[in-house]
This record gives sequence, C-alpha cells and structure tokens, in this order.
Amino acid sequence: MRGKEIAMTSKLHLGQLIRFRANPFHEGDEAAEHVTSGAILVVDGKIGDIGGADALRKRHPEAKVEDHGNGLILPGFVDAHAHYPQTAMIASWGKRLIDWLNTYTFPEESRFSDPSYAQKIAGRYLDLLLAHGTTTVCTYCTIHPASVDAIFEAAAVRGMRVFAGKTCMDRNAPDTLRDNAQSAYDDSKALLDRWHGRGRASYVITPRFSPTSTPEQLAALGTLWAEHPDCLMQTHLSEQTEEIAWVKGLYPEARDYLDTYEEHGLLGAGGLYGHAIHLEPRERDRLREVGAALVHCPTSNTFIGSGLFDMDGLMADGHRIGLATDTGGGSSFSMLRTMAAAYEVAQLRGRALHPAELLWLATEGSARALRQDSIGRLEPGAEADFVVLDLASTPAIAQRSAVAETVWEALFPTIMMGDDRAIRETYVMGKPSKP
Ligand code: GUN
Ligand code: ZN
Repeated sequence: MRGKEIAMTSKLHLGQLIRFRANPFHEGDEAAEHVTSGAILVVDGKIGDIGGADALRKRHPEAKVEDHGNGLILPGFVDAHAHYPQTAMIASWGKRLIDWLNTYTFPEESRFSDPSYAQKIAGRYLDLLLAHGTTTVCTYCTIHPASVDAIFEAAAVRGMRVFAGKTCMDRNAPDTLRDNAQSAYDDSKALLDRWHGRGRASYVITPRFSPTSTPEQLAALGTLWAEHPDCLMQTHLSEQTEEIAWVKGLYPEARDYLDTYEEHGLLGAGGLYGHAIHLEPRERDRLREVGAALVHCPTSNTFIGSGLFDMDGLMADGHRIGLATDTGGGSSFSMLRTMAAAYEVAQLRGRALHPAELLWLATEGSARALRQDSIGRLEPGAEADFVVLDLASTPAIAQRSAVAETVWEALFPTIMMGDDRAIRETYVMGKPSKP
C-alpha cells in the first residue's frame, strides 16, 4: 500500500546570510559567519539546508527559488519580555514605574475584562510584531483568563510560537485587577492544561512582581511551578530603586528582592527575570548558580528611567541573557530599536556592543533565555521563522550603508536607525507573514 503521500513543499530563499557558530560575547565576531551569496532551504516549515547559493541550487534542483537579492536573511526576532495588553498605551508620558503602573497600566489592563477587547488588542499586537520582524514573543497577559485565550488564539491563527501567561496579582492593585492565591493557582493551572504544548503555544507561570503578590500567592505559584517544571516562569526583578525599597518594606524577612521569589519556590533555571538592573552580589551569584535567565529591556529602562543594565559584567560572569521590548513600558515594538537602545545603554557603561552581539541577543540569546533551540537560529532542523532585512530602507540608512566596507558596517545603521520599513518580509514556518 502506498499510503498517503504528503507533498513536500521546498523552497530556496537566496540572499545574504548571517549565522552564528557560538555566542559572540564569548567568541568575538568570529562566532558569526557572513555568506554574501547564501541560501536557506525551507521544507515543510523547517530549515532543511543552509549554505552558499550555488551549492544549494545544485543540491536541491527540485526546489522553487525566491531570490531576495541583497536582502539579509536572519532568524526572526525573539522578544523575551513584553506586555501585549499595554499595546494601546505605549508611549505614555511622564511617570516612573510605580506611578506609571497606577496611572496608565492598571486602567488599561482593566479593560481586558471584556474578552472582545482582549481579542482586538491581541490581533493588533501580533500584527505589529510581524510587521517589525518579531516571530516569537514571551508576553504577560492580564489577570483575566480570557486575555490568555485571546493571545494564544491570535498566535495560532498566525502560526506563531508564543509564550504567555495570566498575570497574577492579589494586592497593591485595583479591585478590578486582583485575584487571590487560590484563584491564581486554579486559573493558571486551567490555562496551562488548556494551552501548554498545544501547537506552538507555551504557558508561562506569571506572578507580576513581589509588590503585587502576597507571600501566599507567590507560594501557590511556586507550588504550581514545582508541579510543572517544564513550564517557564516570568516575573520582574530589581527594576527601580523605589520598587526595591518597597519590596524591602513588604518582605522584611527577605535577604534581598530575589529572596522573595527564592523563598516561595520561584527561583530556577526556567525563570525569566525581567530588568535585573540593581542586583546585589548575592542575587547575581544565585541567579547564575541556578542558571536563570535575565531579560534586558533597554528602551523601557531609559523610558521609565530605571537604570543601566550591566550587560558586560553579567555576560562575563556567565549569565544567560535575553533581549526584550517590555512594551508598553518599553517605547517600541521593534527589536531593531531595542538593539539600538541596548547599544546606547552599554555605551553609557563604557562598553560598545558589537553588531554581532546585538543581533545574537535579539535572536539566539532570547531563544536560549526561553530555553528554545528550534527558533532564533538559521540551522537545519530549526523552524523556518526568519526575516529578510533591507539594509537601505530609508535614504538616511541607505547613504550610510552604501559606503560600508564590511557587513557589520552595513548592518549597524539599520540596527541604529531602522524600524518596520527595514523588514522586507517576515516568514513564519516558511510562510510570508508581514501584514
Ligand atoms: N513591574 C511590574 N509590572 C510591570 C510592568 O508592567 N512593566 C514594567 N516595566 N515593570 C513592571
Ligand atoms: Zn515587564
């Protein structure tokens, strides 16, 4: 019996390529390979082969060819920390973290009690991501379970790999945005059972941060995490000095901010700790010992006035670090703009990040923070989530890249000045998906 034969669709995408053999923070720009006339073969949504265009044409004569000219093929960007419910209030003026949450964020998040509003914003948000070349995000939702359904449903329609979780808060938030320890556990568990591992969805256990959870709620979510150790857990850590002082008052027994999580079962290798700017030596040591991921959110850190993340020191110490927009505390949906801000923040600490380092952070670094090796890389077997960049997308960028002598010099103006206009196309599992 012949059985059912599934037609294999294969396509060769031609263009320039950059791929990484190692982490450029550890191995320098030698860790990256630039192929001027390169190709990737996409077979049924995955990368089947990669290399020089001539060689791949010979190896795969049956494949259809799409020639992107001098477009630069890169992995789709991976945004390791965002708040999709804050889409409509991005760029809200004039507040630092705690006032910003109370003035802008909580009123907007309250609107997600209406599932149809959640659906509208979820679709809008994912389309904005695809327009900016981001193919995977790890996002907070609101306390409303329907806000989680909305983002995973919108992601499934677009075929996107998305990480998300119900934000849990049982104190220091308006009545309309509070759950309790038991309902946070129950709702999170029900959502996890419904979504985790369904298609490309991954559920993330999500206590917002220690000030908006009682110790009982943190403990309940720590218990849930222990029951589902394959899930990631996301939260915020040491973003602003006022916040850290507040945590000290709320948890007088804790050794430091991280200890409020550690004490309740919320410190581990699958933990994603957003911001992590003002860390004590003990916190740095513990985060590294357990192999937790830190997520750098540079446009947010400058926009809300939080501080300067120690990228160089933390990388040198061996921390796992991802890069993220943190929209709407972050002021952009673009991972290009986010790389630019990471460059500027590091400059203010006396270190110029190389474009290879910035690019690695926005792709493989963030994917590793999410414990993924199937995205963020152009390698055979990886999922075919990729972008084609135009390195001359505006007159200002074009005139600079025109006189570049290396690929890094050609790419850097797009990193510093680029936006959604630099994204020629975004592919999700090999499918053109730029809205
Ligand atoms: N800390 C707790 N919640 C938030 C949030 O929504 N955005 C940022 N930037 N920090 C937070
Ligand atoms: Zn955040």
